[in-house]
Amino acid sequence: MDAFSIHGGNRLTGKISVDGSKNATLPLLAAGLLTDEPLKFECVPELSDIANMVHLLEELGCTIKREGDALTLQTTDSSQSHARYDIVRTMRASVCVLGPLLAKRGEVRISMPGGCSFGDRPIDLHLRGLEALGAKIHLEGGDIIAKCNRLRGATIFLGGPYGSTVLGTANIMSAATLANGKTVIESAACEPEIADLAKLLNAMGAKITGAGTPRITVEGVHELGSATHTVMPDRIVAGTWAIATAITKGDVLIDRFPLDHLLAVIDVLSTIGVHVHQTDLSQDPTSCSVQVVCDQNLSPVMFTTQPFPGFPTDLQAQMMALLCISNGNSIVTEKIYPERFMHVPELSRMGARLVKHGSTVVIQGADCLIGAPVMASDLRASASLVIAGLAAEGETIVSRVYHLDRGYAAMEKMLTQLGASITRINDTQVVDGLPVIETVPANKLIQSDG
Ligand code: EPU
Repeated sequence: MDAFSIHGGNRLTGKISVDGSKNATLPLLAAGLLTDEPLKFECVPELSDIANMVHLLEELGCTIKREGDALTLQTTDSSQSHARYDIVRTMRASVCVLGPLLAKRGEVRISMPGGCSFGDRPIDLHLRGLEALGAKIHLEGGDIIAKCNRLRGATIFLGGPYGSTVLGTANIMSAATLANGKTVIESAACEPEIADLAKLLNAMGAKITGAGTPRITVEGVHELGSATHTVMPDRIVAGTWAIATAITKGDVLIDRFPLDHLLAVIDVLSTIGVHVHQTDLSQDPTSCSVQVVCDQNLSPVMFTTQPFPGFPTDLQAQMMALLCISNGNSIVTEKIYPERFMHVPELSRMGARLVKHGSTVVIQGADCLIGAPVMASDLRASASLVIAGLAAEGETIVSRVYHLDRGYAAMEKMLTQLGASITRINDTQVVDGLPVIETVPANKLIQSDG
């Protein structure tokens, strides 16, 4: 298993471009199950989560070819509708095949996803929504079994205790495209990834309006066809590069930056003293070039994670790493996943002064962080440790890099290109201070919480 060795203190400078979004790509690929016609995707990121989804879709009868960052997908065999436990347990986002399979094939068997490293992640809203569309659902041996004749349109409320559900909205919206009649999704997730999915589905012949707002309307059609789609830039990767630049007091030009999708993050960055500005105002603000510059000591801030357009939970850990070296006390509250704080004890090992109380963390800014061997148990927590390592004095070793490979393509190469001192090493190379952490899983799929 790989680790990163980081020697902190190098200022990030230069130019970088943002890849296609992981969390957009996963339901976009699953939408390929809604048609027998070919779909072509551009800007598909090279990530282990995408490889896992490709593997699942191949098992479900899709023929998939990848050339560079383009991917073509066509359903060629509809006989297999079982998403096996082996795959679902490695990637929670496998659940986004549920709606498309049910709508197109009238039946699906999918393993119930378990908890994840940052707490309980139920799928009750997905199931309630599909039942409202006419599915009969029961649980058998840990698998969800859903069946229907043709789904029928309905009005569905998708709000839950922590807001709406992103993949739940993707599932219901996708399924409703082939339902008989009109579906209204109330309290739909407003995340840009949902608007991107609706864009693909409409290009395939669906009739969806309102995607990106809390009320989505879908007029069902009999069949969907072929389409070509460019995946939107990854707002979480873009935000991670901006925060990494800031912690090194760097100056980086970031292309394909989804500025309009990151306004809450830009607001926090500018409050603490990081400058982010669009370099060419004629460019589309959902994919433009921005200059990120940090040339001063940072002020503290208070923020709360919220559904879009609020501050994204997927950037909470990275922003916390940055606030560890601000001038004063910051307060971060997590409102989507109240237990998503695995990075807190690891950042503390690097000298961060953090006090956690329930779903809130108080950060007392320190003068500096100190390199240490650290490890985390999810993708974004790992990214926060890399960010901390970029600014820390001495060497930081971040273990379990496979978490990062799920969501950041060749992260160490991107950061090296900007001047960071970061190398990928095998854990067996780590001798002093770090034990060999665990054996490689027998299954070649990579564990994922996304
Ligand atoms: N929830 C329910 N019932 C449900 C579904 C969700 O109560 O049926 C709750 C969850 O427990 C959570 C909240 O609703 O408290 C939001 O969960 P959501 O369903 O929106 O999460 P998701 O769709 O499973 C996606 C991203 C996550 C991201 C969340 C929130 C993908 C593949 N994953 O998950 O991304 O954190 O939305 O924005 O799109 C990541 O990329 O690192 C990652 C975890």
